[in-house]
Amino acid sequence: MIVGAQWGDEGKGKITDLLAERADAVIRFQGGNNAGHTIVRNGETWKFHLMPSGILYPGKTCVIGNGVVVDPKVLTEELDELRHRGVDTSGLRVSANAHLIMPYHMMLDDAGEARLGKLKIGTTRRGIGPAYADKASRIGIRVQDLLDEKILKKKIVAALEPKRLALRPFARDPRLDLQSITEEYLAYGRRLYEHIADTTTLVWDRLDDDQIVIFEGAQGALLDLDHGTYPFVTSSNPIAAAACIGSGVGPKDIDEVWGICKAYSTRVGSGPFPTELDGELGEELRQRGGEFGTTTGRSRRTGWLDLVALRYAARLNSMTALVVTKLDVLSGLDKIKVCTSYRGEDGAVFETYPYHQTVLHHASGEYVELDGWSEDISDARSEDELPENARAYLRFMEEFIGVPIVLISVGPGREQTMWTAAGLETAPGRAIPAA
Ligand code: GDP
Ligand code: IMO
Ligand code: MG
Repeated sequence: MIVGAQWGDEGKGKITDLLAERADAVIRFQGGNNAGHTIVRNGETWKFHLMPSGILYPGKTCVIGNGVVVDPKVLTEELDELRHRGVDTSGLRVSANAHLIMPYHMMLDDAGEARLGKLKIGTTRRGIGPAYADKASRIGIRVQDLLDEKILKKKIVAALEPKRLALRPFARDPRLDLQSITEEYLAYGRRLYEHIADTTTLVWDRLDDDQIVIFEGAQGALLDLDHGTYPFVTSSNPIAAAACIGSGVGPKDIDEVWGICKAYSTRVGSGPFPTELDGELGEELRQRGGEFGTTTGRSRRTGWLDLVALRYAARLNSMTALVVTKLDVLSGLDKIKVCTSYRGEDGAVFETYPYHQTVLHHASGEYVELDGWSEDISDARSEDELPENARAYLRFMEEFIGVPIVLISVGPGREQTMWTAAGLETAPGRAIPAA
């Protein structure tokens, strides 16, 4: 399982694509098109929002699980683009039980943010929160409903009824017309028909045959609805436990949980960020790391590596391994800081992640300063090609978190990756791609 260990955008897409080579199936289990996963292969860039990051292998089984919220417009656009670029998408399967994002969910997302004003969450405005809210309220519309006009229409009416007041400002919006929504969504149903399936039994069959299944998380642990920086979180659970619910497998089916983290921190949207760098250095990291959102193009906030939050993420996920990405971005810094505890407003020291919102909002990082390195490391292909200080930085991380680093990434390209000794030893043999 691949999960984000920070606030998202850690490089899950790149790592999933790498491991997918040897996998029999790749499955997305939560989130929706709030995600933006980037893959760079032979200088060509791919950005996926809903498509599992295994789709570039011709015919590979790629599953959008029941836990995902699906905007069928975005999904059909991604399919069109892939076909246009010559990719075989026949392996895509979409759970018939996955919930749909409807036009009114996007309107409600916009309206919710406008209402919050200065307190806004900074959502991606893709309708994610309102779609999950309808799912929990049991008035959600599912992928299977796209295949039956009568049912679809009835469910849209039922879903719109309790929202009449909130949607009043959009009353004249043509996107809210019952007949046109129904027709638009029935057309998506016809387009997606060949991909709609019972994906739970599909995954069971692969596991029963001892095949390798990769679960591809979206977002990251600190954006988790229950365990993240609520209310500045997403509306699903990006942690490992959710993969079971979002795909239909039991916890004992999971052998490995790999947390992906950057060598520093970023966050997009509002909410507490104890190691944030607002000044020149923050801007430098943003420019060097290309820290602009894959989905919304917004600037990502940047900061030092937060080991308090990372240790919390490791525990929440039962992480068996760490993958460190974007180590190359830190090259050329004389000194690099890592946060090992927080200090609260009243001077109190926190060694573990504080549960209380007020404490977290006023916490600032306490740091250990490590020596940097000046060499460009983007061409390094094995650990021993890294400068000693870069290796010392990784060792410090690993020892603090207590989870072995198995893979190191030094650039967006697929080849800009190296396995550590621990990785070569512990990674399930078949997961390691050919050189
Ligand atoms: P995801 O949402 O976790 O899949 O991550 P994103 O794709 O949103 O953001 C990660 C960005 O960093 C993408 O633009 C990647 O191409 C890029 N990237 C991934 N790994 C590395 C790395 O090791 N070094 C550098 N410089 N860029 C990387
Ligand atoms: P990937 O999978 C980074 C953030 C939004 C906002 C909060 C809630 O690419 O790592 P939402 O639209 O989900 O209701 O917004 O969550 N957010 C992400 N940040 N990476 C993501 O996905 C994100 N998906 C949502 O910026 O702060
Ligand atoms: Mg992303």
